[in-house]
Amino acid sequence: MIRLATTKDLPIVLYLAQSTFREKWTPIDGEVLVERYILDNMQISHFEQDFSSPNVSFFIAFHESTPVGYAKIIKHSIPQNYEHLGTKFLKIDKLYLLENVQAKGIGSEIMTLIHQIATEELFDTLWLGVWGQNTQAIAFYEKRGFSKAGNWFFQMGDKVFDDEWLMSKAISSGNYIQI
Ligand SMILES: CC(C)(COP(=O)(O)OP(=O)(O)OC[C@H]1O[C@@H](n2cnc3c(N)ncnc32)[C@H](O)[C@@H]1OP(=O)(O)O)[C@@H](O)C(=O)NCCC(=O)NCCS
Repeated sequence: MIRLATTKDLPIVLYLAQSTFREKWTPIDGEVLVERYILDNMQISHFEQDFSSPNVSFFIAFHESTPVGYAKIIKHSIPQNYEHLGTKFLKIDKLYLLENVQAKGIGSEIMTLIHQIATEELFDTLWLGVWGQNTQAIAFYEKRGFSKAGNWFFQMGDKVFDDEWLMSKAISSGNYIQI
């Protein structure tokens, strides 16, 4: 089950954001960088700010009634230097599931919901940044119609990761396909 998070869900979103980020990136980038990123970007104050923004929404995924993953989307977030890709942009800012529930179709369910929102609200372009070596996620996005539009970047602490991809997908409002 996937549902939109409300401010009451802030502790759940905080827990999911921190735990999925740690699980995914600590083995790759090390504890120091990951904990720095969490301290600087994933504290209660950051989520309070997000929940108060009309353009930010969180979705929580449940597996057997337990929260296991989340997505954060940002409406009208325009990718710098990629303005030519569309006119009305929706960014998938985060899409993370706990490891033990991956590859069970939950990510696909979240993507279907985001696609549906984008279609209903007449966004024409979905986009996201992904690490160029995150083959699992790239395969997942490609299978759902995203393609690499160019290079992107991601910053953790002082380190700028420039081996990121910007992936995008054009949405045709009159032509909604279940994915
Ligand atoms: C990427 C992610 C959101 C996909 O969600 P999911 O629920 O695992 O994926 P689904 O079960 O809906 O879809 C499975 C597809 O995703 C890919 N995939 C998912 N898990 C995979 C795994 N462990 N190994 C290889 N491919 C995998 C495959 O393309 C697979 O294709 P299939 O439909 O032919 O089986 C999820 O795996 C995840 O949270 N990964 C870790 C965090 C991350 O990297 N997020 C993206 C940051 S940009």
